[in-house]
Amino acid sequence: MNQPVMGGVAALNVPAYIKHNKLINWVADIAALTKPDAIYWCDGSEEEYDRLCAQMVEAGTMKRLNPEKRPNSYLACSDPSDVARVEDRTFICAATKEQAGPTNNWVDPNEMRQTLNGLFDGCMAGRTMYVVPFSMGPLGSPIAHVGVELSDSPYVAVNMRIMTRMGKAVYDVLGSDGDIVPCVHSVGMPLQAGQQDVRWPCNSTKYIVHYPETREIWSFGSGYGGNALLGKKCFALRIASNMGYQDAQQGGPGWLAEHMLILGVESPQGDKKYVAAAFPSACGKTNFAMLIPPAGFEGWKVTTIGDDIAWIKPGADGKLYAINPEAGYFGVAPGTNEKTNPNCMASLRENVIFTNVALTDDGDVWWEGMTKEPPAHLIDWLGNDWTPASGTKAAHPNARFTVAATRNPVIDPAWDDPTGVPISAFIFGGRRSTTVPLVTEARNWTEGVYMAATMGSETTAAAAGQMGIVRRDPYAMLPFIGYNMSDYFQHWLDLGKKVAAKNPQALPKIFCVNWFRTDDQGKFVWPGYGDNMRVLKWILDRSQGQAGGVEHMFGTTPTYGDLNWTGIDFTTEQFDRITSIDKDAWREELKLHTELFDKLAYRLPQELVATKQQLEKRLAE
Ligand code: GTP
Ligand code: SPV
Ligand code: MN
Repeated sequence: MNQPVMGGVAALNVPAYIKHNKLINWVADIAALTKPDAIYWCDGSEEEYDRLCAQMVEAGTMKRLNPEKRPNSYLACSDPSDVARVEDRTFICAATKEQAGPTNNWVDPNEMRQTLNGLFDGCMAGRTMYVVPFSMGPLGSPIAHVGVELSDSPYVAVNMRIMTRMGKAVYDVLGSDGDIVPCVHSVGMPLQAGQQDVRWPCNSTKYIVHYPETREIWSFGSGYGGNALLGKKCFALRIASNMGYQDAQQGGPGWLAEHMLILGVESPQGDKKYVAAAFPSACGKTNFAMLIPPAGFEGWKVTTIGDDIAWIKPGADGKLYAINPEAGYFGVAPGTNEKTNPNCMASLRENVIFTNVALTDDGDVWWEGMTKEPPAHLIDWLGNDWTPASGTKAAHPNARFTVAATRNPVIDPAWDDPTGVPISAFIFGGRRSTTVPLVTEARNWTEGVYMAATMGSETTAAAAGQMGIVRRDPYAMLPFIGYNMSDYFQHWLDLGKKVAAKNPQALPKIFCVNWFRTDDQGKFVWPGYGDNMRVLKWILDRSQGQAGGVEHMFGTTPTYGDLNWTGIDFTTEQFDRITSIDKDAWREELKLHTELFDKLAYRLPQELVATKQQLEKRLAE
């Protein structure tokens, strides 16, 4: 151990294996600002994980679940005010407002630094500051990036161990001068001497702040999910999307950080393809990534590379290669069951942290949709007695599980491969009860970019705010883009041109899907889940020029006869219901595209404006 620093500041106690002076000085600086009682350097060991969990059980933050029902698993219930991402408190503090763009909250970085210095001053008093080293992407891979999160939440430390490659080995990669994305996190509830802590400390004042120029992340006031596990949305999407764009601006090939699942599909003949799909939060990425092919697809296998984030770069052969920068899943619990997602249920058998689900009388977990019949009695996520007559939800709608990717029985053998997997198709999908058909293939890259850019979706419980409102969510990246949205569209257009110039065959086809059209009773018409394979198969066949379809106003869709219907009773009437194109509805839809384009007018690519004009012309015919 190095010498402890004296003088009212917690002893640094730097482990001897850390040789990175810049990191050590930064930890000292943040400790001097936030004034924790102690500093703890996480090594990522199992012993450490168990110890921190036991400590949280003691403190009342987590409950240990019945080891016979759910071995080595815990339930954490958050403060009722701290249950989801806070988009209106999320800031991209680029040097200028234009660089953050009209879809992001922006405050001048100097002003924000002053505000945050005030808030972080002494904010860790009475607590331990955990030093959490992590790699996004396989350790030492040329596409991976390292971050260090300083957090006063042990819940963050243990979740980061599941969600990222966390621990001592990161320091070997870093050496004495490796690049680090510094992440500072506080729940924002300092403890006075003798003050009793609460089960889930947090603060009603919240800030999730990104400085893209210096690649820093500062988060205050929340202990939940994407607000607090800073490797995920803050680093792997907001900072990373900016890094990928900057790379192209500086003459590199450029790369993409996307809100996408990545899955592998293997045919009975052993032909393997990979696709990446962007759906907004709580719109089915985890489900699609673990899909089990239905009747009629005997011998087909779907495997998971990732369920939430993809980093995508052009490879030497011109193809686009994707990696999953994460090492675990922070997935939506409600709606998950043995029918909708058996692979997910199998992943959750042991070694899981559940957050905001309900507790059963025998010490297991339950959430809405897990079983047809709810248990007769539960303790709900708020800690209250619950029965089916309560009339409230036993689990919060954004209740989640944290589990290692390696628990997934259908994990793809290449999921940890540093070179990534080649992408054959991009799929974009929103949650739309009307208007948008089951599946459409874009005629070319530009029209695909237009489709993704103008995508709309009904809001879900994943973010604080009203649910079920249709909003534009370009690329499912509205809450996650770390720079100007118009520049992002241009970056996609440019990358497509680069790939096509090198090898036109390498350019993935782009598709748009919608699993969520409803009938007059508001029920989903499409069975979804495993049956999404029927659509996925068509997408793969189309990507290889091997399936039929009809061209309409804005792309190509399958006819009823183009899909495999073995083992399912789905009528042509039902098919029409979810594939029909209502011109009036599309006239209204186009008005919303216009609204979006007005908002993004500054630096909006002309190609997209022209694409919209062609669409309007076809609609008027
Ligand atoms: P984030 O982790 O928030 O980014 O979201 P995700 O896209 O991974 O969400 P997830 O897969 O966990 O989606 C959960 C919600 O989507 C639940 O309400 C599911 O019931 C619903 N869902 C998933 N797939 C389907 C489907 O094929 N059809 C229908 N109707 N609902 C689906
Ligand atoms: C999302 O909201 O898209 C998530 C969950 O994946 S969180 O990590 O909380 O952002
Ligand atoms: Mn997500």
